[in-house]
Amino acid sequence: MSSKHFINDPTHLVSQALHALTLTNPNVALDAAHKIIYRRPSPSSSDQQQQVSIISGGGSGHEPSFAGMVGPGMLSAAVAGTIFASPSAEQVRRAITSRVDRGRGVLVVVMNYTGDVLNFGMAVEKARAAGGVPVEMVVVGDDVGVGRAKAGKVGRRGIAGTVLVLKVAGALAALGRPLDEVAAVARLAADNTVSVGASLEHVHVPGRGVDADDKLRDSDDVEIGMGIHNEPGSGRAKKDLPALVATMLAQLLDQGDADRAFVNVTSNEVVLLVNNLGGVSVLELGGITAEVVAQLADKYGIRPVRILSGTFMTSLNGLGFSVSLLNVVNTGVGVNMVDLLDAPSEVAGWAAPVRKETWEARNTATRDADDGAGQEVQPSGLKTDAAAATTVLTRALESVIAAEPEVTRYDTVVGDGDCGIGLKRGAQAILKHIKDKPLTGDAVVDVASIVPVVENTMDGTSGALYAIFLNALVHALRTASAGDASPQVWAAALKQSCDALSRYTPARPGDRTLVDALYPFVEVLGQTGDVREAASAARKAADETKGMQASLGRTVYVGGSGYEEVPDPGAWGLSCFFQGLAGQ
Ligand SMILES: *[C@@H]1O[C@H](CO)[C@@H](O)[C@H](O)[C@H]1NC(C)=O
Ligand SMILES: *[C@@H]1O[C@H](CO)[C@@H](O)[C@H](O)[C@H]1NC(C)=O
Repeated sequence: MSSKHFINDPTHLVSQALHALTLTNPNVALDAAHKIIYRRPSPSSSDQQQQVSIISGGGSGHEPSFAGMVGPGMLSAAVAGTIFASPSAEQVRRAITSRVDRGRGVLVVVMNYTGDVLNFGMAVEKARAAGGVPVEMVVVGDDVGVGRAKAGKVGRRGIAGTVLVLKVAGALAALGRPLDEVAAVARLAADNTVSVGASLEHVHVPGRGVDADDKLRDSDDVEIGMGIHNEPGSGRAKKDLPALVATMLAQLLDQGDADRAFVNVTSNEVVLLVNNLGGVSVLELGGITAEVVAQLADKYGIRPVRILSGTFMTSLNGLGFSVSLLNVVNTGVGVNMVDLLDAPSEVAGWAAPVRKETWEARNTATRDADDGAGQEVQPSGLKTDAAAATTVLTRALESVIAAEPEVTRYDTVVGDGDCGIGLKRGAQAILKHIKDKPLTGDAVVDVASIVPVVENTMDGTSGALYAIFLNALVHALRTASAGDASPQVWAAALKQSCDALSRYTPARPGDRTLVDALYPFVEVLGQTGDVREAASAARKAADETKGMQASLGRTVYVGGSGYEEVPDPGAWGLSCFFQGLAGQ
């Protein structure tokens, strides 16, 4: 639980966040005194006159719920309390009486929390008492996290599934349907939605103290069924993701669970919502979604017609997620619930970018994976002695492998320690490759066959540099004239490859990179045609990287003083390869 925040004054935080919505969405305005975000009346048309207004809200800290869902196709207004506390009845009354159109009636949707139900309920009663405005209220309690026995009189709470109810109701209202229909379909959606959450930690409320006695914080447990205000769930356990998801799905779906079985999810059409409670990385939420979808199919035969994954209802920066299922049933008013979910809306808080047509097309086409990579390389007529080349290359690769501990040690001083292992992995893979698929004696064919091995086994910056270099080498050798591949031919091709490499990296000799060993080798080979002399030049240059300051690559950030004592690991590793080539 991180208790560090950019804004620590909770009052300021809530009002600034509401204000921000008016900056990012010109559709909405803010009644700052009553913390109401509402749809601006349309200056020209009477569109909004023709629809039922929908109001929701609750404590702050659940963004983008609810103020982020105000706009065409969803809410007419949202009323915000302070963090995790219901707005007052007076705030809600203001919203009903002065911030929305009332001609077609008003639907108020709240989650099943005592404060919200009382305050929104009181405002609804007042508005009704004032007369003239038909007002309906729907209470959502989708959470199955706490079973009947334990929940007792508290009942089921509302969590992320509420957003599905708001979307369905908002879309139906936008179609101009009457209040009784909108309220009935909202209730139907609420009655057919089940959700459950799980969190690794409690959240910290800005401006409040830290609970020094938080057992969850200090354990590896996950709290299953935790509410969106840190409320306890059904229990804590140490579970990996598959086991956690299995438990959550059982709580949602197991009809044999007498304590739950709130909704019998039997529809052909089920909508899945995987919701980020605010602090899960987008990457991790993707992994969670994949697990949920796989288990739904494997264990329950449920293949959702829509899968929504994103941040819909948070608990501040909660390190958790919730899973909601909507069992799609006949609305009885001639409109499908899924169509209502698909209907366009202009609000930032409803993130469903994929259109109905795209879902329904169920396109399963893929591109043919064969991009020609496996194709035979045409012989070039540039000859080498296959047996000799194999011996020399093997010796060079073994020299790289033998140098691994040394290179690793250098890289531990000046880098992140993985250079030696990376080179060794590449060298081992090439060795295996030339054993399985012996060199042919055609320079182009042989270098080309090694390129994919390097590409697939060496990663990071140096892997990319080697891959570019070798690809360029294949190209350069191919343009050489047929005949024996003399040291001069190799040197000319290597020189071209250096030029190609220099187009993709600013590294030049003196920058403390593998280039420090590469350039002298190529240069001396071109001048003398002697591999031994070239290898010695590379070794000398690699040694001279000691004391050079890095100007590129990760070494720059890692910094430290070690660069004075050790050579650049990449340059050193490459010089070992050249030494091996030369038999030194
Ligand atoms: C809301 O909670 C109350 C108890 O406070 C419970 O009786 C009721 O069934 C719950 N409503 C919903 C819709 O879950
Ligand atoms: C759920 O629905 C299925 C199929 O309609 C039915 O066989 C099953 O008995 C139902 N379960 C419960 C607990 O109602």
